[in-house]
Amino acid sequence: MEVRKYRRFERVGAHSHIKGLGLNEKGKAKPVADGLVGQITAREAAGIIVKMIKSGKMAGRAVLLAGPPGTGKTAIAVAIAKELGEDTPFVAISGAEIYSSEIKKTEVLMQAMRKAIGVRIHEFRKIYEGLVTDLEIKTDRHPYNPYAQIPVSARIRLKTKEEEKTFDVDQDITYELLSKGVRVGDVIWIDAETGRVTVVGRGEGEAKYDISTFRKVPLPEGKILKEKEFVHTVTLHDLDVLNARRTSIISLIFGGAEEKEIPPDVRAQVDEQVKKLVDEGRAEILPGVLFIDDVHMLDIEAFSFLSRALESELAPIIILASNRGFTRIRGTDIVAPHGIPLDLLDRLLIIETRAYSSEEIKEIIKIRAQEEGVKLTEEALELLTKIGAERSLRYAVQLLTPASIAAKQEERDVVEKVDVERVQQLFSDVKESAKYLKEYEEKFLK
Ligand SMILES: Nc1ncnc2c1ncn2[C@@H]1O[C@H](COP(=O)(O)OP(=O)(O)OP(=O)(O)O)[C@@H](O)[C@H]1O
Ligand SMILES: [Mg+2]
Repeated sequence: MEVRKYRRFERVGAHSHIKGLGLNEKGKAKPVADGLVGQITAREAAGIIVKMIKSGKMAGRAVLLAGPPGTGKTAIAVAIAKELGEDTPFVAISGAEIYSSEIKKTEVLMQAMRKAIGVRIHEFRKIYEGLVTDLEIKTDRHPYNPYAQIPVSARIRLKTKEEEKTFDVDQDITYELLSKGVRVGDVIWIDAETGRVTVVGRGEGEAKYDISTFRKVPLPEGKILKEKEFVHTVTLHDLDVLNARRTSIISLIFGGAEEKEIPPDVRAQVDEQVKKLVDEGRAEILPGVLFIDDVHMLDIEAFSFLSRALESELAPIIILASNRGFTRIRGTDIVAPHGIPLDLLDRLLIIETRAYSSEEIKEIIKIRAQEEGVKLTEEALELLTKIGAERSLRYAVQLLTPASIAAKQEERDVVEKVDVERVQQLFSDVKESAKYLKEYEEKFLK
């Protein structure tokens, strides 16, 4: 069975301490759990969203995480991904990413949306399955080179618990057998239609070594020729890419570029095929999540594309995050909440995140310190907490690693208050740096 994994959303680093939403069975948030601290309302709301997604009641809807910088919006999105588990596709992009590529903005969004929809396809194929008990390759003289021998056919004996038979196979399958390195003692599949050969593993009784790189598999059951079910999990985007390759002769000959634009008719075809498979009970759709961080970076064209895309039949759940208040919608002169057009805003479920108390900041710094393996004295922790409250949580968290290096330079294992003071002087936060730029500007650039 071939099972392909989605590329998971792992922002290692800043959010690695987050394991989930930290909710109990009734969906209530524990004050500190799964690496998350406080932000109770937002976490409980996120828990309900997860339930809706899992029960398939969210497709085509959208959620907005709104709140000041450093209040855990991205952290909660990561937690949602963790709660959804491996089976639900979760794709994360930042609003700015739509400009960073050679392809059209709307194409970037479209591809991201289609990566966020999984299709589990069940395929029944006729195959010959068995343990190879004998294999004889017949060779003949090469038609043009009298000194070379080429394989022309093979005789193979396959065995299951029920029967054992000898087959003569043609040259194509012989090449397949050779290129896959099939040996006596392997359990193999030969696809009845295409002749493709798959080595499943080494027959259990045949394995000579205690340790080997081969998977040990039991002697197959039933008849040699049988219908077997295969499950492939792919995304709509995977299918788009496959289909686009197939329709373009140029790409068949010269190889296509990986990230090219996919023509709309290819997508329409894929949708039709998938719908047909679903109707026939041969596929299931797994609607996942597209998370767009810093959504104020999208422009009006991207927003109207999103609104329209939400209406389509095969749309993922869209989660947006923004730390902006009232701001201009990019590409217009219109000022709107979060820089999001009102018609889209109207359809969003909004989850607010609020600034943390000093106690919560302290708790978050403690968790991060543990995650990064940094030991702090009580005074150092107090100072970092104060920095977190007065400057920003992110700045305080970012000082942890430099502070631990500063302590090591002094040959100490535990970070003391002086280390935090030192790195605070060495590294400025955004506000300080902006202030400096202003002064700099006044001094030099007039
Ligand atoms: N409630 C929380 N519990 C534990 N860690 C948190 C919590 N909130 C934030 N953090 C951590 O604090 C840091 C800043 O939070 P995060 O990046 O999620 O903020 P944000 O709201 O997305 O900010 P921005 O608007 O700037 O993107 C991250 O390392 C995050 O993992
Ligand atoms: Mg963020």
